[in-house]
Amino acid sequence: MSLLSNPFDPAREAALVTGAGNGIGRAIAQALVGEGVRTVFADVSGERVAAAIAAAPCPELAVPWIGDLAHRDAWDALLTDARSAVGQVTHFVHSASPPRREADHALAVDPETWEQMRSVNVDAGFYLSRELARQLIAAKVPGSFLLLTSLHAGTPRNLPHYSTSKAALAMLVKELAKTLGRFDIRINALVPGAIAAGGFVADPSLARHIPLGRIGKAEDLAPLALAVLSNRISAYVTGAAFVVDGGLSLTNWFDPPTLDELS
Ligand SMILES: NC(=O)c1ccc[n+]([C@@H]2O[C@H](COP(=O)([O-])OP(=O)(O)OC[C@H]3O[C@@H](n4cnc5c(N)ncnc54)[C@H](O)[C@@H]3O)[C@@H](O)[C@H]2O)c1
Repeated sequence: MSLLSNPFDPAREAALVTGAGNGIGRAIAQALVGEGVRTVFADVSGERVAAAIAAAPCPELAVPWIGDLAHRDAWDALLTDARSAVGQVTHFVHSASPPRREADHALAVDPETWEQMRSVNVDAGFYLSRELARQLIAAKVPGSFLLLTSLHAGTPRNLPHYSTSKAALAMLVKELAKTLGRFDIRINALVPGAIAAGGFVADPSLARHIPLGRIGKAEDLAPLALAVLSNRISAYVTGAAFVVDGGLSLTNWFDPPTLDELS
């Protein structure tokens, strides 16, 4: 068998993706059902989830779930509903994140906006990961989780509620990876650069700072996401952060050399 074929075992594995209604979460959820994995598409928007499932390669493997992940009762409902719909969730992707608004800078962001960002990104990410891990430990089944962080876990974004929540998630990946490795549960971070999805309105001029010369697409994230999620491909990978940014994070105060003589 080829090294990279059959990354999942659909008879034993099932997935839950938050933020599956749009952007990166949608692309990953669609790719998972494309690999034959039953997948819960969780999002606050029913319309978005319906459209994401309608456009998925194997829509019959997709289970819609609609709820606001800013609230703990929704986290419990999601865990219960996911279990009854697909059985044991072995693969968890946390991509849901409230909208970023440029107006919410450090001197403006209000307590509700701050709280909502933390709640959806960090609190839901922690609670869902921990409860799914508890289920996997009890069932003695391996698992793999992928939390969406950001380059802004380490560099300012002028949105302190967002950057601090992503920094917290980056550390959560390491805490969980260290604690849960003994149970064969792997936790990694996926770190997008500038991706033209719903959460980021890309100024096209940004492309000149990107060595690969273009803004990213949600679909650029899905192949690596699946490779890291796969216990077959990435069995020895945990606590790691995978940057998918076309080289954007290499940008600094030096421009690249002019190589005109080679062209
Ligand atoms: N797009 C980028 O350039 C970029 C860069 C770095 C990190 N990220 C991260 O990747 C992830 C996906 O980003 P995206 O741009 O695809 O986002 P997006 O805005 O396109 O999608 C996020 C999804 O989360 C859902 N959501 C928001 N609040 C929710 C809630 N309270 N409960 C349930 N669902 C909720 C939205 O309805 C939406 O479908 C996010 O965690 C984001 O922080 C994105």
